[in-house]
Amino acid sequence: MSKRTPLIAGNWKMNKTATEGVELVKEISAASVGSHASVNVVLCPPFTALSAVGQAIEGSLIALGAQNIHDKANGAFTGEISASMLRNLHVTHVIIGHSERRSIFGEDDAFVNRKVLAALSATLKPILCVGELLAEREANQTMEVVRRQLEAGLAGVPAAKAESVIIAYEPVWAIGTGKTATPAMAQEVHAFIRKLLAQQFGADTAARILILYGGSMKPDNADALLAEQDIDGGLIGGAALDAKSFTELVRIAAKSLSR
Ligand code: 13P
Repeated sequence: MSKRTPLIAGNWKMNKTATEGVELVKEISAASVGSHASVNVVLCPPFTALSAVGQAIEGSLIALGAQNIHDKANGAFTGEISASMLRNLHVTHVIIGHSERRSIFGEDDAFVNRKVLAALSATLKPILCVGELLAEREANQTMEVVRRQLEAGLAGVPAAKAESVIIAYEPVWAIGTGKTATPAMAQEVHAFIRKLLAQQFGADTAARILILYGGSMKPDNADALLAEQDIDGGLIGGAALDAKSFTELVRIAAKSLSR
């Protein structure tokens, strides 16, 4: 790890009602998560639980994130949610371009890019997800795919706002499958991402941008992943739905900073 403060973000996906979400936050808070500054924590519940979870984390250092936005500010877009609606609920982060949005809901790089720009205009921190499919890894296309998603996703982002961007490298074959990239595999892609960020924004800015790993990160593999130079935290799916595993991940990340 480096001087970047690690971040553990929980992506609850389409899980937890507002009531269940508040219960989970109570359990997480009871373990003192969000009470120390050596690790940052973001919870990304479904839209319907944002308000209740936001109230439940009030007064702690835990931040609130959403899982998606629409790129337009308002208008006739039935079922969609804008950046300003999220800001109004004290949301500070938003996941953009998750592989499930890309593959199930057909979001392309251009749409992802418009969402990133919309988030930044509203002072929301975008967590831009990139990552290759299994077939792409097997065809040695990992770096090509990551480069395309990253460069397209960040097109037009001004250098002055680049530090608000967070990147999440999520190899699609590792999501929800129990298969994790080895620390060396993940580090190779993270270092490549930081090199691309340096080309776009300069080395100093790139050194300050957080790059999270996502894909079956659990307490038993987090320590080795977070020990890598360019892995600055995790975007956690399944293990974020359980207070015990999530708080353990936060504890491991807090420890990684002091190495
Ligand atoms: P899992 O941790 O369940 O593999 O999910 C990762 C993910 O998609 C986070 O966005």
